[in-house]
Formats: sequence, C-alpha cells, structure tokens
Amino acid sequence: CKAMNRSLANVIFGSFGQVAGKELVAGEKRTMADVNDVQADDVAMLLAYAKQVVIVPGYGLAVAQAQHKLRELCDNLESRGVNVKYVVHPVAGRMPGHMNVLLAEANVPYNQLYEPEDVNPDMANVDACLVVGANDVVNPAARDDPDSDLYGMPIIEVDRSKHTVVMKRSLNPGFAGLDNELFYLRNTMMLFGDAGDSIGRILEDFREHRRLVQRDRLALALRLRGDHLIRRLRFRQGRGGVVDGADPRDLLFGGPGPRQVHENDERHHEHRVDRRGDEHLGRQTEQE
Ligand code: TAP
Repeated sequence: CKAMNRSLANVIFGSFGQVAGKELVAGEKRTMADVNDVQADDVAMLLAYAKQVVIVPGYGLAVAQAQHKLRELCDNLESRGVNVKYVVHPVAGRMPGHMNVLLAEANVPYNQLYEPEDVNPDMANVDACLVVGANDVVNPAARDDPDSDLYGMPIIEVDRSKHTVVMKRSLNPGFAGLDNELFYLRNTMMLFGDAGDSIGRILEDFREHRRLVQRDRLALALRLRGDHLIRRLRFRQGRGGVVDGADPRDLLFGGPGPRQVHENDERHHEHRVDRRGDEHLGRQTEQE
C-alpha cells in the first residue's frame, strides 16, 4: 500500500474512480498519430547496440504469459555482452509478488532482479528500457502531476533513460484508468501487439540477422531518432547532411555531447561497438 500511495481498501477494491479501458484525462485526446510506432526489427537493432538494458515487467506480461520468451530474449542480449536488469515494481501486476512469481517460473536468476530505487538514480545512463506490459508503474504523472490520481506513487523512471520501448496492444490505460504521457515522449517507441508475439519477433530477427546486416545502419538510426537526430548530426558535421560511416551507437545513445564522457570511456565504448556491432551482428569489419 505504501508503494502505491493508497489505502488497503483502495488497493484491493479501488480503481481510481475510473473503469479500466476508458480514457480519464481531461483535454485533448491522444491518438496513434501522436506516438512513435515501431516494428520488432527496429527494437532488435536498438537492443543489439545497447550496453545497458532495463526490463520492466507489468501486468501485461502475466496476460501474455511471455515470461519464458522474455528470459530467452534477455539471455540472448547477455550473450551479446549487454548488461540486463529486470526491475520489479512492488505493485506491478495484480497481486503482491506477481512479477517475482512469473520471473521465477522462467528461472530468471535472483541476482538479475532489482528494485526501482536500485536503478532510478542511474537511469540517465541506461541505453534502453523495455517495458513489457507495464503501464501505471512507469507513468511519469505519478512523479510530476499533483493533480493525477497516481501522484505520489513511486515509479520506475524509464522516461529518464535514453530510449524506452513499450510493448502493449493499444494505447488503452492500465489499472488506474489514466493516460500515460510516457507513450508520447520523443524517446519512447511503441511496439504494439501481444508481448509474447513481439518478443518472439525480436528473437526471430536476432536469429536471422537479415535486415540488421542488409540495411544501412545509419538509416536505421535515423528512423529511430528522427528530426532530433538529424539536427544533431548536422550540427556535428557542420554542414547540411550526414556522413556515411557514422557510428550508430553514438547516434543512438549519444556520445560526448549532452553527457560528459571521459576519454577512456570513449575508447572502451568504441571497442565495444566494434566487438558487438560487427561480430555479433555478422557485419565484417572490411565491409565498413
Ligand atoms: P497496468 O497499469 O495495469 O497496465 C498493464 C498493461 O498491460 C495495460 O495497459 C495493457 O495494455 C497491457 N497488456 C495487457 N495484456 C497485454 C498483452 N497480452 N501483451 C502486452 N501488453 C498487455 O499494470 P502495471 O504497470 O503492472 O501496474 C499494476 C497496476 O495494478 C497498478 O495501478 C497497481 O496499483 C494495480 N494493482 C496492483 C496490485 C498488486 S498488489 N500488484 C493489486 C491491485 C491493483 P493494452 O491493453 O494496450 O495491451
């Protein structure tokens, strides 16, 4: 109850004064046109280049029964050298310990489970957060909007990471019946569909490596970051275009720029790009 900022009665019987499935938010209604709708292969590319990935499971993971596929995806990322943390919110799901039970079913190692307060302080350094069927527990209104019914509930602050991918079937609200500004942020990608199907498609993309090696990596990066990225590239190049051979990791997750990166970190970073980006994605160095 403390984690939800609600009374016991409200936790068990309450639904924040709103029937789930209906929009509650006053003002203009958001639509699909307002979100960055991506495909599984875009997400596969993003994850393949990431170094730090945070997984946020929610009630939708239980609905999809996708815990085994999620574990398979995370194992695959770990084998590529990606650091993966599962972050479990105390009220994610519909009963105490719901996510822990699901993840235990899939034999997720206990030492990969984290609490929100373990990861929130370092969220700005997380390359990608994968929100798997969670909604209320990542709603920034709980932190930012005193008028929100969620206000005061601690959240997993995925909106502060470099990229967030939200897997759900629609823009429908979760248990609280509230819209979620997270879905409309520039660095959020919505991967619509059943979470199990979406994870399956990402895994398939990893297995086949098809598009990842055939397509131009820079073009993919541009699709993900859009105008903002193009502006940044133009600024860096000092002219009106982009240059072949730009480092997609730098484009996706930002190198020196907004964040100060130590010279040694940079060298390490470049080394990792070579190793994961080229070897694991099957791209030969001589082709570059
Ligand atoms: P929610 O906010 O309830 O959101 C779950 C999301 O899962 C929904 O928005 C839904 O979106 C998505 N979903 C459903 N089926 C899916 C599927 N097959 N594939 C992918 N996504 C799917 O969940 P949460 O973030 O875990 O938060 C839990 C909420 O329940 C909190 O408000 C909490 O207070 C409340 N609550 C918790 C407890 C305990 S003790 N855990 C008890 C009572 C109430 P789509 O429909 O668009 O797919």
